[in-house]
Amino acid sequence: MNPTVSPLGKDLVGLEELTADQIRSILDTAEPFKEISERRIKKVPVLRGKTIVNLFMEPSTRTRISFEFAEKRLSADTVNIAATGSSVVKGETLVDTARNLEAMRIDMVVIRHGSSGAARFLAERIPSNVVNAGDGAHEHPTQALLDLLTIRDQLGKLSGLKVCIVGDILHSRVARSNIFGLLKLGAEVAVCGPMTLLPAGIDALGVRVFRRVEEAIEWADALNVLRLQLERMSAGFVPSLREYNRFYGISSPRLEAAGRELLILHPGPMNRGVEIDSDVADGPHSVILRQVTNGVAIRMAVLYLLAGGMPEQAEAAKQGEVA
Ligand code: CP
Repeated sequence: MNPTVSPLGKDLVGLEELTADQIRSILDTAEPFKEISERRIKKVPVLRGKTIVNLFMEPSTRTRISFEFAEKRLSADTVNIAATGSSVVKGETLVDTARNLEAMRIDMVVIRHGSSGAARFLAERIPSNVVNAGDGAHEHPTQALLDLLTIRDQLGKLSGLKVCIVGDILHSRVARSNIFGLLKLGAEVAVCGPMTLLPAGIDALGVRVFRRVEEAIEWADALNVLRLQLERMSAGFVPSLREYNRFYGISSPRLEAAGRELLILHPGPMNRGVEIDSDVADGPHSVILRQVTNGVAIRMAVLYLLAGGMPEQAEAAKQGEVA
């Protein structure tokens, strides 16, 4: 592997900055990596000798653990740092934290941060590769990549498909990354939610806007249902959770009324009974746990490519045939 010629460049900050070919190459590279997680011994030497720091300044279950599994299964050495328990609570800045880590000779930083732009800010200040694991309401590129891979797995393509993102679009980095990625790969994209949870001018991104969830369900091949991000809401964006569920909740009767099958995605964590009912989340059209499984392969692919791996050599690399 040659880190100076990564097909993705130095960092993965967002899908807005990637070309359609780069996004496709991540999805294609993830395909051979899926099999590693199905082995009895889930380990290959692809990133042996690399040191990766997972710097999570916001809570996370799926993304942090998924990155850690991806790193360990590729044989990287990993260190996890959370805001609590680090010198951030004593007032140390993000850049000082990162520079101190670099002084210990690291290769990559995976960062989750509450501020939009934190990943780009760090990427411009340290020579290590930086991977954005979610920054404020800006982007969550690996979540969108695993969503795209899951839709492609289930429906066989992305180009020409109709995908509607339902819920709290205003606060959602997942929505933004999905919109960029899906449009670049030729899907039609819509958003649906109360006016208070749709960013002004969202249609300028090239998406349709549905006000009624019944219309969205009628139109879409797949629904990506988003959580109401109550922790990011400083004002009353919805009158009550019960009312939100009544008007926008994804329920079996609403899906049955469409008279055809729709794929149901959710990035998690879910508010069951608010944006999605339990019988839908656990039902036959839900691919929510497949998204989680695909997340490990997507993160392996991103780390491999940033380390200078070539997409066409991923199959050989996982067999230990490429240095
Ligand atoms: N989808 C997602 O980012 O989940 P976590 O917050 O648990 O990482």
